[in-house]
Amino acid sequence: MSWIQNLCPPHIQELIPYASAGRETRSGDIWLNANENPLEKKSGGLEKALNRYPQFQPAEILNAYAAYSACPAENLLVTRGIDEGIDLLVRAFCEYRRDLIIYTPPTYGMYSISADAQAIETAALPLTDDFQLDLAAFKGVYSMDLMRGSMSGAYPKLIFLCSPNNPTGNVLDREDIIQVLEMTGGKSIVVIDEAYIEFAPDASFIAEIKNYDNLVVARTLSKAFGLAGLRTGFLAANPEIIAVLQKVSTPYPIPVTSVEIARSALSPIGITAMQDEVNFINGQRESLRSALESFDFIDEIFPSAGNFLLLRVKRAADLLAFLDERGVIIRDRSSQLGLENCVRISMGTETEQAGLIAALKAYGDSL
Ligand SMILES: Cc1ncc(COP(=O)(O)O)c(C=O)c1O
Repeated sequence: MSWIQNLCPPHIQELIPYASAGRETRSGDIWLNANENPLEKKSGGLEKALNRYPQFQPAEILNAYAAYSACPAENLLVTRGIDEGIDLLVRAFCEYRRDLIIYTPPTYGMYSISADAQAIETAALPLTDDFQLDLAAFKGVYSMDLMRGSMSGAYPKLIFLCSPNNPTGNVLDREDIIQVLEMTGGKSIVVIDEAYIEFAPDASFIAEIKNYDNLVVARTLSKAFGLAGLRTGFLAANPEIIAVLQKVSTPYPIPVTSVEIARSALSPIGITAMQDEVNFINGQRESLRSALESFDFIDEIFPSAGNFLLLRVKRAADLLAFLDERGVIIRDRSSQLGLENCVRISMGTETEQAGLIAALKAYGDSL
């Protein structure tokens, strides 16, 4: 048994996935095998009829993402956003009361929430003061013969990293990630969440999948592609990990509508449009940064390679209450480790950002 199969709890090793009609690869003209309604339903200019179930892993969307990401389709799983991908990873590799995952706060909340929801132990290895990986802490975990924190006495099953990181905005140091991949090889799966990677494409690790069989890269159409409402994301990994994840996936995760819209977003025209929007949003970020520099109640504007800015202000609660009253909604991140009085602002249109700046000016005048 390979180390990846060995990493799965016994009930997943033994699991035989539901043999849905959508997993069928046969061809034919008369399809009477899925208890569908035979009367064709088409809507809104869709090519495919909605009375039929979609394919389990629709080839069009996998091939389109493979062409865009230069990652072969056999290395991809399409999911209902990264959030579903995180959940599948925890479900496939972790066992209640036995296993452990690692996350690196301050970071995206769903890694620990997905684990908590399944009663899987979590261990935080906080980022350093400049929001980089604490390699000494990782070495501490991996130099022990057995991981004492875990009830099974084994190594953590999953390590979640996020780069560019939400909510801090920075990219994790490439060499540090490589050291983590090296020290965890054959022991743990390292998941790099690249939700914001189109804003910092050089930082991607997707091309490293062929070099590290313990690497999973998570991607989404929710951010740069502007399709958060479509709920479409991808996990990229070696085919053995993909096969394990396929076992725990629902039989028809991706709606027919999502397949068609995603295929068009991933066409050459769609990709050019996305890149234009990324340039626009990067411009918005830098123009907002310079506008914010004039406010005395902002102590720090952190560097960002995402579509958002993290700021440390003098009194976050007061500022948020003032903005809320004026219908300007930004995100309080003060409760996160090391982020006292920090707020996160997503980039908006020119009009939205002008409204934000006017409200901030009014707040400044009120002090
Ligand atoms: C780092 C990170 N990962 C994943 C997600 C969720 O992605 P999706 O919409 O693909 O589920 C978010 C959303 O804010 C995020 O910030």
